[in-house]
Amino acid sequence: MSKKVAIITGASSGIGQATALELSKQGFRVMLAARREDRLKQLQSEVIRHGGEASYQVTDVTSFAEVEALAKATIEQFGQIDILVNNAGIMPLSFISSRKVDEWDRMVNVNIKGVLYGIGAVLPYMEEQKSGHIINISSVAGHKVMPTSSVYSGTKFAVRAITEGLRQEMKSGQNIRTTIICPGAVATELTHTISDENIIRNLQENYSDVQTLTGEDIAKAIAYAVSQPDHVDVSEIIIRPTEQAL
Ligand SMILES: NC(=O)c1ccc[n+]([C@@H]2O[C@H](COP(=O)([O-])OP(=O)(O)OC[C@H]3O[C@@H](n4cnc5c(N)ncnc54)[C@H](OP(=O)(O)O)[C@@H]3O)[C@@H](O)[C@H]2O)c1
Repeated sequence: MSKKVAIITGASSGIGQATALELSKQGFRVMLAARREDRLKQLQSEVIRHGGEASYQVTDVTSFAEVEALAKATIEQFGQIDILVNNAGIMPLSFISSRKVDEWDRMVNVNIKGVLYGIGAVLPYMEEQKSGHIINISSVAGHKVMPTSSVYSGTKFAVRAITEGLRQEMKSGQNIRTTIICPGAVATELTHTISDENIIRNLQENYSDVQTLTGEDIAKAIAYAVSQPDHVDVSEIIIRPTEQAL
């Protein structure tokens, strides 16, 4: 049997990068996607250096055409798509009253439409194969709203709703599974997308006593979900730092 193939969006840093390395260690062939080509190239070399198989495709998930091209390139390269990790995301937290309309648009485009485009691009192949697993990265912020997280939380609630709806739709004999992953605070580049200095300072103060998670902690949860037998659907996992209050 040929090795399973996983597409990972947002593979150029943080959780996506760690997931690519972990899944490759578990024997998956990985297709890496994001916008920063230099990072994808480096990661591809790292996977290959450790004996894995990897390819990459520069992809902006806000373009359905580019996400469809990613799925097509994966089929051309590896012949199948078994797993999609819809991980690309941004988190420019702000107060609604600050009216950062461009940031609202970008969050909706990347965090919601990007996830939908990923599903839309791989589903025809998974339906034809009669197997597949779609992992969507939501957040603890997809369960809870805090001041400044209104729009980000809105996008992450949406990811949970879309994934649960897809799970129900896929129930009848298609052998396509879905998993929602909801991380708490993970030390990555995600906070670099915040433009309000006060919000960055507050976050740093709030989490100064908390040992945050690593991308590898989340990657291991994803590896657990994808390693279950076909009859087991790990529908949702919430993972927080032990000391995280919210
Ligand atoms: N870190 C946390 O505490 C935390 C907690 C809960 C949930 N999450 C979620 O986890 C996911 C990964 O975030 P992270 O923490 O690993 O942050 P990160 O290190 O900033 O990674 C975000 C990834 O998304 C990619 N990306 C952003 N915009 C994109 C676009 N338009 N098209 C394609 N790729 C795009 C980035 O790559 P390029 O810039 O190269 O395109 C990068 O690889 C996100 O969905 C985030 O909301 C994170």
